[in-house]
Amino acid sequence: MTARVRVTDLMARKGGQKISILTAYDATMARLLDQAGVDALLVGDSLAMVILGEETTIPVTMAMMIHHTQAVAKGARRALVIADLPFLSYQVNREQAMMNAGRLVQEGGAAAVKIEGGETVAPAVRCIVEAGIPVMGHIGLTPQSVHRLGGHRPGANSDAHTRQLLNDARALAEAGAFSIVLECVPAETARAVTEAVTVPTIGIGSGPHCDGQVLVSYDAFGLYPSPPPFVKQYAQLGGQLISAAKAYVDDVRQGRFPACPSN
Ligand code: KIV
Repeated sequence: MTARVRVTDLMARKGGQKISILTAYDATMARLLDQAGVDALLVGDSLAMVILGEETTIPVTMAMMIHHTQAVAKGARRALVIADLPFLSYQVNREQAMMNAGRLVQEGGAAAVKIEGGETVAPAVRCIVEAGIPVMGHIGLTPQSVHRLGGHRPGANSDAHTRQLLNDARALAEAGAFSIVLECVPAETARAVTEAVTVPTIGIGSGPHCDGQVLVSYDAFGLYPSPPPFVKQYAQLGGQLISAAKAYVDDVRQGRFPACPSN
């Protein structure tokens, strides 16, 4: 059996072989992506949109995250399983953050958690890490702040925004985060952040200079109807599924399935 990927393996890849991460929400997808050799599976709170049909990630609860993390942890043999701390599961205070991170690991079976925010969540990150739980940061476009941001919008491409991202990334790394997701950050800013911290950066819509990439699997494989423009689609599974289902409907209606037993 191939060895489990650990956070220490990913940290050792800083500046070396790029890290590949995809989201997964159930055991079947986790098993398939794991077999493909993906380094880590993120049980993203994007499940609100791609699985539950919500408009934002806000409605996701701890109970939902634990439920889906359990399924992914059962399907993953080798890949590191990282679970998102959902909206309002870590902002109240550090104790709340630590307890909920612990639940994702203890009840869900995750090996690490991800948290949105920079300097403001750094104290919570430190607390979770001190409890023995690896934490991935997430800065740039933070979908849980969709209402404050006025939509799923990237921040301004300004010096002030770059300075803030650098401060956020440094604060997360100093608090003990093992890696940091940069979402929809201009490529040159992502390069500067990547050079400024000693932990790997994982880009999504942030250009080629990060230490790794993450994509929402439903976007990458053509299962979600409106993927963001930066997504490269590696398959059109949605179209294939519709064709397969049409063939089934047709077979049933025409009496071709099930076949009559031959005497
Ligand atoms: O929830 C999610 O899928 C994420 C990725 C977009 C990084 O946070």
